[in-house]
Amino acid sequence: MAGTEVRGAALDSKGMTVSTLLHISASPRGAASESLQIASTFLETYRETHPDDQIAMWDLWDGTLAEFGPAAAGAKMTVFAGGTPEGEQATAWNAAQATFERFAAADRLLFSVPMWNASIPYILKQFIDVVSQPGMVFGVDPVTGYTHLLAGGNRRAAVVYTSAVWGPPLGPQFGRDFQSTYFGDWLAWTGISDISEIATTPPCPATPTRPAARRMPPPATPPRRSEHPAHHRPATGRTAPAPPPPPPPRRHRMTQTISRSEVQAGLDAGTITLVDALPESYYAQQHLPGALNLVADDVENRASQLLPNKDAAIVTYCSNPACANSGQVAAKLEKLGYTNVRKYADGIQDWVEAGLPAQSGAPTAR
Ligand SMILES: Cc1cc2nc3c(=O)[nH]c(=O)nc-3n(C[C@H](O)[C@H](O)[C@H](O)COP(=O)(O)O)c2cc1C
Repeated sequence: MAGTEVRGAALDSKGMTVSTLLHISASPRGAASESLQIASTFLETYRETHPDDQIAMWDLWDGTLAEFGPAAAGAKMTVFAGGTPEGEQATAWNAAQATFERFAAADRLLFSVPMWNASIPYILKQFIDVVSQPGMVFGVDPVTGYTHLLAGGNRRAAVVYTSAVWGPPLGPQFGRDFQSTYFGDWLAWTGISDISEIATTPPCPATPTRPAARRMPPPATPPRRSEHPAHHRPATGRTAPAPPPPPPPRRHRMTQTISRSEVQAGLDAGTITLVDALPESYYAQQHLPGALNLVADDVENRASQLLPNKDAAIVTYCSNPACANSGQVAAKLEKLGYTNVRKYADGIQDWVEAGLPAQSGAPTAR
């Protein structure tokens, strides 16, 4: 929608205020990115509930982010000292100003933030270093300290955090979280007080019956907490408790679940195709009879080869109800047009504990 931009809001053709949502992504992984997939679900819902709002995407890896090198650092110190940047410094300062304007023009922000080496990807730190300037994101007074210049503009932010190994409540042997702690703290420091966090669970643990269980983390979230692979972390606004957050991500279609006895009946009748959504090493140790092996990252490339009939009755499963993999694979299959996908949420743990037969061995179809 064409509109007149003002700081933090835009006007539609009738002069009504509409919001601008800017999705800032720090993941370079494109279609394979979990944080982008969750953001996309979030945006689908957002579009439905805010049809007039403008939505823009900023992939921080697209080459448009200004650098913050010697000239920019020099300009910052010049401004701190009360001077005006000149020459190369002025060019760098103007670039920082333009970057800040792009960021601050949005009154709704959505960030995709993978964990990289316990913290955030360096491109997002670069973004922070560029926009965090006196007179832009903050003011500072030697006596009273910082002021937070994005406060009070009705701004809201949602952050999608992803990680593959670390996750609450794991101990330090699985890494540390300087990702949400650092980024959440920075966001709150800008003055944005309405911050929602969405965090994925790490990959599934093995079932306790598998030898590899000792190597893998326990479930990061309580079982059955959500059908979505993500769960909400409490808001971390440092300056104020979070008012009602933007709409939480949710699927339009929840994958139907299927019970153990239905799986048994389907297997006996030969009417279902089982899909084990765990990594191949787990599949090789133990899987349900006749199951294929397909992990979420491979769905797009391998589904048509492994599952040529889009109307076949497909049942995904992984370890147990705490495991998100089966839901992720099911959701991706549904997105590709598979019409009859269900999830055996209790997973192989339930199957084995019920004394039912399992198989071992590497997947045959490659
Ligand atoms: C360079 C790099 C470093 C990573 N470091 C960690 C880490 O320290 N801890 C962790 O749990 N996961 C780590 N991961 C895994 C990612 O956080 C995980 O795959 C996440 O889903 C990536 O988000 P994305 O899919 O949106 O790109 C790392 C991944 C990459 C590429």
